[in-house]
Amino acid sequence: MPKSFIAGIGMYVPENVVTNNDLKKYMDTSDEWIQERTGIKERRYAKRTGETTTTMGIEAAKIAIERAGITPQDIDFIVFATICPDYYFPGCGVLLQRAMKMKEIGALDVRNQCSGFVYALSVADQFIKSGTYKNILVVGSEKHSFGLDFSTRGRNISVIFGDGAGAVVLQPTEQEGKGILSSHLHSDGESAEMLAMFNPGTHANHWTEQPLASFNDSEIADMFMSHEMIDKAQNFPVMDGPAVFKKAIVKFPEVIKEALAANNLTTDDLSLLVPHQANLRIAQFVQQKLGLRDDQVYNNIQKFGNTTAASIPIALCEAWEQGKIKEGDLICLAAFGSGFTWGSVLVRW
Ligand SMILES: CC(C)(COP(=O)(O)OP(=O)(O)OC[C@H]1O[C@@H](n2cnc3c(N)ncnc32)[C@H](O)[C@@H]1OP(=O)(O)O)[C@@H](O)C(=O)NCCC(=O)NCCS
Repeated sequence: MPKSFIAGIGMYVPENVVTNNDLKKYMDTSDEWIQERTGIKERRYAKRTGETTTTMGIEAAKIAIERAGITPQDIDFIVFATICPDYYFPGCGVLLQRAMKMKEIGALDVRNQCSGFVYALSVADQFIKSGTYKNILVVGSEKHSFGLDFSTRGRNISVIFGDGAGAVVLQPTEQEGKGILSSHLHSDGESAEMLAMFNPGTHANHWTEQPLASFNDSEIADMFMSHEMIDKAQNFPVMDGPAVFKKAIVKFPEVIKEALAANNLTTDDLSLLVPHQANLRIAQFVQQKLGLRDDQVYNNIQKFGNTTAASIPIALCEAWEQGKIKEGDLICLAAFGSGFTWGSVLVRW
């Protein structure tokens, strides 16, 4: 059975750099608070118009496809991970397929939040291993800046997130030991509401004792999204930051160890851990818990913030471009996020 390997990788971040001090125009916050709690110094915001989650994904995809030495017409399947889709439906995958003039190939959208790219890569890996497809484009892209509460009310979330995209092309290889060694996916819906965006949705307060929005049983209209939801700022994400932090620092190391153990490897064998860029403090905690050296972990949240499904391919691409990843290196990608969902992928480069 062939393994899949990353034949090309690309990233795109918007030009517009937004510093912590820039955010002070909109909310009561400070550079010190943000850096101390999250490690973030700045992030990028896409243009209000002319740039979308899909267009950013396309920019990253163009580079990944070129580096793989193929053309968009050679791509035989798309997996697009995002929580900031251009449309509620259809997904970004078909918009990318249209814009890049690809063949009438399958386009799958993945909505697994911060674990989106790890889930997407794992799905693509199965299609390659089974021999179904030969050139799969996997994209993670997010335009968070369009959907955050930039008032003081939303500051615990809005300062964390940034925009950007990353993409890889997966191809089969018969080369012994090379490629994706294994992937490990998990979820625990117990805390689904701790990091979530409830509206628009069909929940009608079904899952929580505390109402998430007003719904009138007698009316047919306004079920998905109402004026009241907007007036009450219920169209923004919510997060119990400390709860997310506590769970993340347990599940990150667990799923990394799981990947290593499944392949009879240890942290000593690891060339580079590329964790989802949730928060620098989380990554540092994980590094310490696993006893990894500084050169074994790649972080760039300081420059880009948390770009959810895009953060791993952006970090991986940057690390590769900086020569930090070489042929034969053992790379672990690991993510944790809303759901909660988490996962890891172990790659022999
Ligand atoms: C969000 C996070 C940085 C908040 O840090 P924290 O130390 O837990 O802070 P708290 O939420 O307890 O809030 C502490 C205080 O800072 C305030 N605060 C929140 N956001 C702020 C901001 N951007 N600027 C200034 N003050 C802020 C709070 O209102 C609170 O004030 P109070 O003590 O007067 O009530 C932290 O919980 C975290 O990083 N969690 C993980 C989040 C994450 O990684 N999410 C992505 C997962 S993929």
